[in-house]
Amino acid sequence: MAVCEAGGLGALPAAMLSLEQLDSELAQLSQKTKAPFNVNFFCHATPEEDPTALDRWHEALKPYYQEFGLDPRQMPQGAGRQPFSPAAAEVLEAYKPAVVSFHFGLPEPRLIQRVKSWGSRIIASATTVKEALWLQSQGADAVIAQGLEAGGHRGHFLSHDLSEQMGTFALVPALRRTLAIPVVAAGGIADAQGVRSALTLGANGIQAGTVFLCANEATTSRLHRQALRSQACVHTALTNLLSGRPARGMVNRLMHEMGPLSTLAPAFPLATAALVPLRAAAEAQGRTDFSPLWCGQNASACEEKPAAELVQGLIRGF
Ligand SMILES: Cc1cc2nc3c(=O)[nH]c(=O)nc-3n(C[C@H](O)[C@H](O)[C@H](O)COP(=O)(O)O)c2cc1C
Repeated sequence: MAVCEAGGLGALPAAMLSLEQLDSELAQLSQKTKAPFNVNFFCHATPEEDPTALDRWHEALKPYYQEFGLDPRQMPQGAGRQPFSPAAAEVLEAYKPAVVSFHFGLPEPRLIQRVKSWGSRIIASATTVKEALWLQSQGADAVIAQGLEAGGHRGHFLSHDLSEQMGTFALVPALRRTLAIPVVAAGGIADAQGVRSALTLGANGIQAGTVFLCANEATTSRLHRQALRSQACVHTALTNLLSGRPARGMVNRLMHEMGPLSTLAPAFPLATAALVPLRAAAEAQGRTDFSPLWCGQNASACEEKPAAELVQGLIRGF
């Protein structure tokens, strides 16, 4: 809400919300601001059941359960994150947000048409030129060029080969040269200078995540904030351990000990559930051993201040 009121396009992350929570968040948001906002969904394929993969993951986590005095027989299972669905579209329709954005590709054409039918613009992340062209061909109104610097989950969906993905400075001009629709630069942009550079490279807009993590209004935990304000934020890596898909975060104990990218992690989003009790037990001791400390490569401008001031800082670059 604060970002929207300050002139940015604030985003409501909906991947971890139940339909009831989505409805309630949208009701609150539309009451608090008349400015346009974006609602963001994941659109991954729900993984097939694979008990062997899950057993392997649980076996790998067993020593940690024992260390923290937890019962490994009680490891939770389940998805936690849901892809965009007809039921979510039903909820969304009552609010008709200005923008609906998608990560990990797009929903099926029928759902895209439905979202467009009430006037929402559709944007989605691309990590390669191929993905951007695919999004454009499927009717996206703009593409987010998500450079490798970006914090959080990688938005790739056509290829899982991370070596095909580019940094923001390489990806933005490559998309500008190729696409007919607007390009939004994302990854490593934290101040007006970064915004100006992205625009010079051909971006039509920018998306920033990391710079807002310490904002007064952010729901970032105390331990995550502490890490962001420490030297820990200069060491990030892509890890699939915390959800099953590669995402950029500060290196924690689990990433250090298992290696940040591991075949032990089950398919997205099934890795998360078994980590929940471990994370809670470690955090109760003030430790971030299993916490997702999402963070991009540029946390230099993360400051504890109102989100509006951070937005104004970025707007100065336009
Ligand atoms: C803590 C955190 C959570 C994120 N969650 C999402 C998400 O749910 N959906 C999404 O599309 N992108 C998500 N992102 C990625 C951002 O949308 C954006 O691409 C990225 O933050 C831009 O790079 P930066 O982190 O260097 O500013 C997240 C980023 C961060 C840092």
